Amino acid sequence: MTRAAVAPDRTPGSLREAIDGAHRRLSAAGVPSPRHDAEALAAFVIGCPPARLLVAGNLSAGQHTVFTELVARRASRIPLQHLTGSAAFRYLEVAVGPGVFVPRPETEVVVGWCIDALRMRAIDATDPPLVVDLCTGSGAIALSIAQEVKGTVVHAVEREHAAFTWAQRNVTGSRVILHRGDATAALPELDGLVDLVVSNPPYLPETQRADLEPEVRDHDPEAALWGGADGLAGPRMIELAAHRLLRHGGLVAVEHADEQGDAVAEMFRASGAWSAVVVRQDLAARDRFVTAQRDRGAVTGSEEKP
Ligand SMILES: C[S@@+](CC[C@H](N)C(=O)[O-])C[C@H]1O[C@@H](n2cnc3c(N)ncnc32)[C@H](O)[C@@H]1O
Repeated sequence: MTRAAVAPDRTPGSLREAIDGAHRRLSAAGVPSPRHDAEALAAFVIGCPPARLLVAGNLSAGQHTVFTELVARRASRIPLQHLTGSAAFRYLEVAVGPGVFVPRPETEVVVGWCIDALRMRAIDATDPPLVVDLCTGSGAIALSIAQEVKGTVVHAVEREHAAFTWAQRNVTGSRVILHRGDATAALPELDGLVDLVVSNPPYLPETQRADLEPEVRDHDPEAALWGGADGLAGPRMIELAAHRLLRHGGLVAVEHADEQGDAVAEMFRASGAWSAVVVRQDLAARDRFVTAQRDRGAVTGSEEKP
């Protein structure tokens, strides 16, 4: 798609006119939430939260030029979060851009379940809960858990160099311990000790390649998306890694595509190592993640942690 020319600097009209024009342009380009994105870009240029736009003054000539450029880039289907440089996730803003997966609202629900589970366990815990986020990307999951469940020790694992670099930037100053590595074999020193493994692995089936929006197809990294022919290679990798890492009674939460709930649950049940296997929904009531408990009876040769 060709990029539109940047409009020459001129005396801008009202902020409302600028946003209305951007809305029309983004709508014509097929952007899924054109009004939201027009307002988000205006707020970004002004440097205020979107909720403050109503009381913001008009764009200066310089701001209008920048806004017009950003709207043109969004119309070429560059993700909004790549233009603003950050993505909102629960109570955080994480830095994102080319090379890292933009965290999605569906994943916030997965993290919410983990946080509730950790808080419930924390009532009786004498030691800090140990959590591993496999396939961490920007680090959004790990950072949210570390922020919202005080005292938790959170390790995060990412294999790809570009995504790892974004994660490094995001975890700086946090308690998250970041590791570069493959989820399959990561953190062998924690085998059998972890309280909770969480992951949003790559899970799209190859058959969906033609169906993706340009923002995803052209800007999310390949390694973040594809889970083999049926998409299940990512969840399968997490089931095996969680089996290795978790203590007896430890919990796993793994995100999957909306049509994969039964298949992922069956994968866990068939291994014989899990109890309480449950398919859970996102806020749109679509199957979104499977949770399971490392069967207390399925591991032999070591004592169960309280
Ligand atoms: C769908 S993205 C999820 C990122 C982040 N957890 C989130 O929810 O926004 C999957 C991530 O897994 C990483 N990844 C893929 N295969 C991996 C593997 N075998 N080991 C570690 N990371 C992997 C990708 O590079 C990508 O960053």
